[in-house]
Amino acid sequence: MKVLVIGGGAREHALCRSLSLDPDVTALHCAPGNAGIAEVAQLHPVDAMDGAAVARLATELEARLVVVGPEAPLVAGVADAVRDAGIACFGPSAEAARLEGSKAFAKDVMAAASVPTGRSYVCTTPEEIDKALDAFGAPFVVKDDGLAAGKGVVVTDYIAAAREHALACGRVVIEEFLDGPEVSLFAVTDGRTVLPLRPAQDFKRALDGDEGPNTGGMGAYSPLPWADPKLVDEVLETVLQPTVDELRRRGTPFAGLLYAGLAITGRGVRVIEFNARFGDPETQVVLARLRTPLAGVLLAAAEERLADQPSLVWRDDAAVTVVVASHNYPGTPRTGDPIEGLADVVAQDAPHAYVLHAGTRLADDGSTVLSAGGRVLSVTATGKDLGQARERAYAAVDRIRLDGSQHRTDIAREAAEA
Ligand code: AMP
Ligand code: GLY
Repeated sequence: MKVLVIGGGAREHALCRSLSLDPDVTALHCAPGNAGIAEVAQLHPVDAMDGAAVARLATELEARLVVVGPEAPLVAGVADAVRDAGIACFGPSAEAARLEGSKAFAKDVMAAASVPTGRSYVCTTPEEIDKALDAFGAPFVVKDDGLAAGKGVVVTDYIAAAREHALACGRVVIEEFLDGPEVSLFAVTDGRTVLPLRPAQDFKRALDGDEGPNTGGMGAYSPLPWADPKLVDEVLETVLQPTVDELRRRGTPFAGLLYAGLAITGRGVRVIEFNARFGDPETQVVLARLRTPLAGVLLAAAEERLADQPSLVWRDDAAVTVVVASHNYPGTPRTGDPIEGLADVVAQDAPHAYVLHAGTRLADDGSTVLSAGGRVLSVTATGKDLGQARERAYAAVDRIRLDGSQHRTDIAREAAEA
């Protein structure tokens, strides 16, 4: 089958890598892609946010399946435009993607479906904001209601900072602080049947030891040796299935990837957030462990036949990914710097370690790879356990040279040593 992937980050590179290894995929296309994706897929300079243009491209290419990676096009209705053109699309409708696009909507769905999550208030006025902040006390958790590219959430001990962020947002969700390790669990769903993937953990803060500002994610690993083996079944039963059932009941079924961001608190599992798409960088490690060919699973979800899909098969391997980011990320990043050492990774670390590209582009010479965003590369490795996967990932990171770049040195360290 011919497949078109929309987006151009490391998540899309991971998706394209898995799809390129699927014997059922005869042609792979990506729009807009990046310099790394260009090695496995044919790129098309089409704006991911332009539903009509994406649908036109999919029609021209005679794509059997379109996979929409990032949240912004999903919330903007790009999956609807593709389906309206009669082409199967993996990704929820704009209505269902509100689960990620509006934190207040997600809270409403969770309340209706009795899904465990933090207590919260939706506020629009300074009076409501002050009342909610007083009710919870520190640490304060203040979330912009809408999509904010990873910058919408402030967790702070300082009420002045909490109030300032809340007032800047317009509509905010103020929430109780949830203490405990975080887990990302993804599920593929066709709106009725829910197929959970393997859990992963993301590292959100910029610096080692979970210091520094929040980012889009600086690394991830899977499996989670410290997690309860019953976690996936429990989350399926208490979170994923009830949420999917509630959206179907409302007449806006959610078909695509449902991402549950969870806190494992002393009082049990709580949902921190839902996303309507594969997480980045967790996808890099989850897909590295999936043995079942990916295209058939995503197509079955897009065509509402997931109930007939055999169980997913997983490798015993562990996987670790380390994000290499630009100078000054998550502030305004420096871009346009040459990246060296990529060929050394291919020569010395493949197939156990490989580089997935996030913000990269080819220079005019057609061969030099340049940094083009905040998160630049996601260096991924597998191994017999987390320790080996970690060693391989960091050995590959050490071969890469990007002036001013930064990465965390403690991705998966605690879990590997446990
Ligand atoms: P989100 O954009 O919702 O993923 O939030 C970003 C990060 O903020 C999460 O990964 C958590 O680390 C943190 N966070 C969000 N909500 C809470 C909460 N209720 N309690 C503690 N930390 C939170
Ligand atoms: N890794 C966090 C996210 O994808 O939102």
